[in-house]
Amino acid sequence: MSEHSSSWTSVDQIAGEVLSCTRCVLSETRTHAVPGDGSSTAAVMFIGEGPGQNEDEQGLPFVGRAGQLLDSLLEQVPLRREDVFITNVVKCRPPGNRDPEPDEVDACMPYLRAQIELIDPRVIVTLGRHSMLRFYPQGKISNDHGRIISLGKRVLLPVYHPAAALRNPRLNETLVQDMKRIPEAVRESLLLRSSAPDGPAVRETAVAATANSANDTNGSTQTPLAEPSTDETSGDQDQMTLF
Ligand code: URA
Ligand code: SF4
Repeated sequence: MSEHSSSWTSVDQIAGEVLSCTRCVLSETRTHAVPGDGSSTAAVMFIGEGPGQNEDEQGLPFVGRAGQLLDSLLEQVPLRREDVFITNVVKCRPPGNRDPEPDEVDACMPYLRAQIELIDPRVIVTLGRHSMLRFYPQGKISNDHGRIISLGKRVLLPVYHPAAALRNPRLNETLVQDMKRIPEAVRESLLLRSSAPDGPAVRETAVAATANSANDTNGSTQTPLAEPSTDETSGDQDQMTLF
């Protein structure tokens, strides 16, 4: 699984290519491409939808109002921004913050896939519905937010988009609670890896007990996509290879 399917060998190299990328029309209207930011060995990776105006101006992810909210959420976990990696499904701002078109998402996906492979995070926190659907097509954000979902060797934790919480203050407390499940999601991912056939022996009973008891709370742990069936579309197969 450590085989990399792309030719990129570092996160910086990916970023360099993104900065001058013209693989889709979003390159024509962007000010700066936004490859992503943070630790190239992060255990936790956050994936938003696409840069907004502030991000487009600065070339950095989540630096506007939604970014300020994300910063305060990270503090509450607690996590430092420099210890995580933050990126988006598309690296260039869709004009007027429209949703990215499928062909734009497809064009940009090799970058995200390579970032995931190289950084190899244990936990992927998707920010918002669109980002969740890339990884968990059958998901419904109103049901699945805050759930710890095992996907292959990683754990997915879908949460509401910070911008949604800014628009709807009632979502804010939900988002806080969901983000606070990140440490538990990391523990869950450790169990996944330690129970893999060639993984290290399971030793951490206390961790196992904590993670199992947590399954009784608001979210259940699932393994819905462990074995992609053979009749998936090629697009779905691409999503599977992210894990
Ligand atoms: N919203 C996103 O989805 N991504 C950003 O980088 C900023 C706002
Ligand atoms: Fe390239 Fe992605 Fe930007 Fe499109 S959105 S130009 S594929 S970096």
